[in-house]
Amino acid sequence: MFAVHVLNGPNLNLLGAREPEIYGRATLDDIRADLEKRCAAWGASLVFKQSNLEGDLVTWVQEAGAAGAHVILNAGALTHTSIALYDAIKGAKANVIEVHLSNPHAREAFRHTSYVTPVARGVIAGFGPLSYALALEALFAQANRKT
Ligand code: DQA
Repeated sequence: MFAVHVLNGPNLNLLGAREPEIYGRATLDDIRADLEKRCAAWGASLVFKQSNLEGDLVTWVQEAGAAGAHVILNAGALTHTSIALYDAIKGAKANVIEVHLSNPHAREAFRHTSYVTPVARGVIAGFGPLSYALALEALFAQANRKT
């Protein structure tokens, strides 16, 4: 079965209440519910997780890679700091799409560096909760392509 693991990093549990002018009013549960519907319609399985701990994200990337699952990763601030996550994605040969609700490149300079981008299949940022849906649709579209 086509398996998708959506992994969320630090502070994304606060979505809806956290800086809504940047991240919007949708909660992580709202995003999960939307992706569940899309996966059910497509016949894909969905694992959806969030942790504030770097080690959890590293372990989950390893597990997704070992399971041959596709990964949609919003690493939150770990995006800009985590060599461990870079190594995990590379080591697990995980097919990762990096997502962000906001557009980090339109924000503070410290958000312009990503340790995920060099080992990601692609990046979708700046579309709010739709960033996740677009990443999922990109995975499905890719799977449907013959060439
Ligand atoms: C974020 C962007 C990061 O810079 C920030 O640290 C986050 C959220 C986003 O989804 O826009 O926590 O990943």
